[in-house]
Amino acid sequence: MKGSGYQFAHRVPAPQVSLLLLVGLSFASVYLLWPSNRHAESLPINAEVVIAQCKALHLTPGPPEDFYSRTQSDRFVGGTRPTLIQNATIWTGREDGKEIIRDDILIDKGIIKQVGSVNLRPYANVEVLDAEGAWVSPGLVDAHSHLGVYSSPALNGAADGNSYKGPVLPWLRSLDGLNMQDDSYRLAIAGGVTTANVLPGSANAIGGQAFVVKLRPTAGHSSSAMVLEPPFSLNGTYLNRWRQMKHACGEYPSGAYSGTRMDTQWAFRQAYDTARIIRDKQNEYCAKALTGKWNGLGDFPEDLQWEALVDVLRGRVKVHTHCPEAVDMDAMVRLTNEFKFSIAAFHHAHEAYLVPDLVKKAYGHPPAVALFATSARFTREAYRGSEFSPRILADNGLDVVMKSDHPVLNARHLMYEAQQAHYFGLPANLALASVTNTPARVLGQDHRIGRIIEGFDADIVVWDSHPLALGAAPKQVFIDGIAQLEKPYTSLKPPSAQHAPTTPNFDKEIADAIKYEGLPPLELETANSDVVMFRNVGSLFLKNPATRRVSEVFTLAKGEASGKTV
Ligand SMILES: *[C@@H]1O[C@H](CO)[C@@H](O)[C@H](O)[C@H]1NC(C)=O
Ligand SMILES: *[C@@H]1O[C@H](CO)[C@@H](O)[C@H](O)[C@H]1NC(C)=O
Repeated sequence: MKGSGYQFAHRVPAPQVSLLLLVGLSFASVYLLWPSNRHAESLPINAEVVIAQCKALHLTPGPPEDFYSRTQSDRFVGGTRPTLIQNATIWTGREDGKEIIRDDILIDKGIIKQVGSVNLRPYANVEVLDAEGAWVSPGLVDAHSHLGVYSSPALNGAADGNSYKGPVLPWLRSLDGLNMQDDSYRLAIAGGVTTANVLPGSANAIGGQAFVVKLRPTAGHSSSAMVLEPPFSLNGTYLNRWRQMKHACGEYPSGAYSGTRMDTQWAFRQAYDTARIIRDKQNEYCAKALTGKWNGLGDFPEDLQWEALVDVLRGRVKVHTHCPEAVDMDAMVRLTNEFKFSIAAFHHAHEAYLVPDLVKKAYGHPPAVALFATSARFTREAYRGSEFSPRILADNGLDVVMKSDHPVLNARHLMYEAQQAHYFGLPANLALASVTNTPARVLGQDHRIGRIIEGFDADIVVWDSHPLALGAAPKQVFIDGIAQLEKPYTSLKPPSAQHAPTTPNFDKEIADAIKYEGLPPLELETANSDVVMFRNVGSLFLKNPATRRVSEVFTLAKGEASGKTV
């Protein structure tokens, strides 16, 4: 690296420098008093910053200790009034998603101040929302979204989700393409989504860095201001926060570059080998710097194009891997064990339910599995997808995340994915968690979003029915304590929609999905003929009305419908 003074100044902002300087200076003074080295080594002028930088390489991302005693959100918008949500049926997300309380919530300064019997005394000018017993959940978290990078309306010039400049692009940032005029932010909020992980598309093995954003409008249309806990590498404010990275394998990268799965996996290995070499050089360098062996040490080894991938190897990045088939997951599991990094989630993992033990062999910890509920079979690699996946994965102890992949599915209907997963067997507590607490944890943000707990961000949805009831719609949505729906219209839902729907017993179908690897036979067990008759047909659309044979069958079927014997 050339000109380390500049590079460092560029990467570490003033407040951090002074903090790190203290650490560095105390280290330097110990060093200077060390008699045997005293004349042997010459301390470089930037020794303190180098020492601080070396120490920062090994920090595990997460909020600082004092985060948990915060009294105001860093996202608080001055002038926002405190709000009391009265008489709510609150799904808090605690106790494995099984805790439900009938009580009040007080939000102020962008955070949840009180849950339960609220003491209003310290508050003035409180807005009151009488929930009249309505269901309240945390704001929904979409772990896989292209909001802003594939915008509505989908005009030329608004497709910023995929770069086709090469299969390995860890230096790109989805944030650089985040369109402030995307109409879908508001539409997603109308469906209760408050936070989304905006990923680059899946054209590349390594598509670039993703960013977790809150969807409410920000002052000055600032895309940066939408980012929740911008990592240090972005704006230098948060020393030690999680970063996100997109990977993809399977048909998409093959298709984008006329390659094969073999090419994609080699692209991964070559990229990680490059990052590993830089990481090892840094470690060697720092081992010397931290023991005072400065002679001939030179500059800290780093490379702006590879620093994000080096951070993956240091365990400081949540890796999101679009990985559909068993063969793809097998290759990625090998890659993680070869280079020793972990994967936060396998996305679009259509075959994960067939290979749960393979998923668990990924380095470090088992990745979560992020899925659509029923949207499968649209490509060869999605062909064995099953609507029973979420249930089967949960039965195997894997974390399940339901996602929109907006605009592939409309983020506004994210809760519908959880509703369907629940219908096909995912328990209610896990179905609700799959769009709130679980994705929050997968993104490394579950210290502030995804549950209704005192001190958490005031991201809250008041529903018109039980959120897992089909057609559930938000009556109001809060982000950072700010009501998002200006004139919400609420339609009256029947009492039956006020509790979690009862669901069929699919035990046989679930066993069959596994037995037949996603392709259970469609024939009826009793059928012993190759003729199928449709009874009770009301009307029939024929591609070619001249096809008489079909018309005859239709006539016969109509006869049946009107009670005649065929
Ligand atoms: C809460 O709302 C329900 C439904 O409207 C109502 O029956 C109940 O009396 C309310 N409870 C309180 C304490 O206001
Ligand atoms: C970085 O982002 C945070 C949160 O959005 C913001 O408060 C801070 O001012 C930003 N810092 C810089 C240097 O832009």
